[in-house]
Amino acid sequence: MAGVDRRTPIRILLATAEVGANAVVDGWIKTSRFSKNVSFLHLYDGSTPKTVQVVLKEEQAEMKAELGPGAAVRVTGTWVESKGGKQALEILAEEIVVVGEGNPTDYPIQRKQTSMEFLRTVAHLRPRTNTFQSVFRVRNALAWQVHKFFQDRGFLWIHTPIITASDAEGAGEMFRVQVGEDKEGFFGKEAFLTVSGQLAVENFAQAFTDVYTFGPTFRAENSNTARHAAEFWMIEPEIAFADLDDDIALAEDFIRTIANETIAQCREDFDFFDLRIEKDVSQFILETVNKPFARITHDEAQDLLAKSGRKFEHKVGRGEVLQTEHERFLAEEHFKGPVFVTDYPVEQKAFYMRLNDDERTVAATDLLVPRIGEIIGGSQREERLDVLKAQLDRFGLEEAPYWWYMDLRRFGTTPHAGFGLGFERMLMWITGMKNIRDVLPFPRTPGQAEF
Ligand code: 4AD
Repeated sequence: MAGVDRRTPIRILLATAEVGANAVVDGWIKTSRFSKNVSFLHLYDGSTPKTVQVVLKEEQAEMKAELGPGAAVRVTGTWVESKGGKQALEILAEEIVVVGEGNPTDYPIQRKQTSMEFLRTVAHLRPRTNTFQSVFRVRNALAWQVHKFFQDRGFLWIHTPIITASDAEGAGEMFRVQVGEDKEGFFGKEAFLTVSGQLAVENFAQAFTDVYTFGPTFRAENSNTARHAAEFWMIEPEIAFADLDDDIALAEDFIRTIANETIAQCREDFDFFDLRIEKDVSQFILETVNKPFARITHDEAQDLLAKSGRKFEHKVGRGEVLQTEHERFLAEEHFKGPVFVTDYPVEQKAFYMRLNDDERTVAATDLLVPRIGEIIGGSQREERLDVLKAQLDRFGLEEAPYWWYMDLRRFGTTPHAGFGLGFERMLMWITGMKNIRDVLPFPRTPGQAEF
């Protein structure tokens, strides 16, 4: 099918069609309607949320059994003005070739069975539904806008390894990589799937200044929530000669830009989310990201929660952990928008975060947003070798495996900072999708690795 013969996407056909011109469309049948007077097909091919309406000739209506939802067809005909109100032009069919039968009676995606839970059981076919067509077009656009943001600003995309020997977050939630029963044979040491590309990308920030990773990460945390997946994608910029303020400024610019650009790029898909998934979600997101983000310290946040008069399930007060209910209260109800919480108690965060002068808190930040809670985790990194060593010791981590990480602090160390954005959480946030399983092509969660 390569070369001059290659089909034209429906997106282009609809934008360029003229009355009287020949039409050739390849696509799948979304819906078909047969009646005495007139019969229609609606075709889609994934290139746009719009469908092409095809009007059948009387004798073609006899193909009814073959022309049900799910079938792949090639329609040849003529563009004519449409009598229905929904579209300007439609195709008057001359020839319909069934490229692949749809077996409409057996087709697993029937009109009535459209719950998200059901569609997860047919994850190989759900990309053909309206919701998942829009989700995965927006997922693609968001990924593109992530790269565009950094590339426009001269950041280098670094492909950090997926197989690693180091536990970047020190949380011990790693999947092991081994051949058969042999834990150390292949690599000569224990190896795991990465939980974050950060430690690896720091090496490149100390050579290229502005860098980022964007790839899959893996966490074996057994939390069966709507916001956790065992395999998810993370974007992690890392900037040298930079402190926490620079990091926060970058994060705010990043979230604002990619939200605006993705919604603009996929306007029609967002019309669908606005109507069917969460009322007016795109307007809410645009209003939310286009005003300045709030910023408070962890201590201030805890004080605010303690004085709120709210009953929370988990304890509040200085030194307590911010749970999702607290994060959502802060972003959704108090600030009514994104808020950076900074300066977390040292024992609540990872060993690599820069110790503040109070020696009680670290130069960390989480970005909390309405409806989701934490979407970004970041920090300024500890660039002082002696302090880093003391921190490794405090966290009960051995120095030996981090010899290269410590070398960065020996040879031309700089203040540097970075953050990690959970790609799926961002996608959920802007689309209004409620479950992380429904923004991943093939979700991996506890008990789920089918497809
Ligand atoms: O806060 P986290 O653990 O930060 C890091 O991994 C740092 N190394 C980032 C950095 O400074 N370079 O994770 C970052 C983000 C979270 O805010 C969340 O959005 C997402 O990654 N995330 C998950 N998303 C889906 N499923 C999970 N299990 C996730 N765990 C974290």
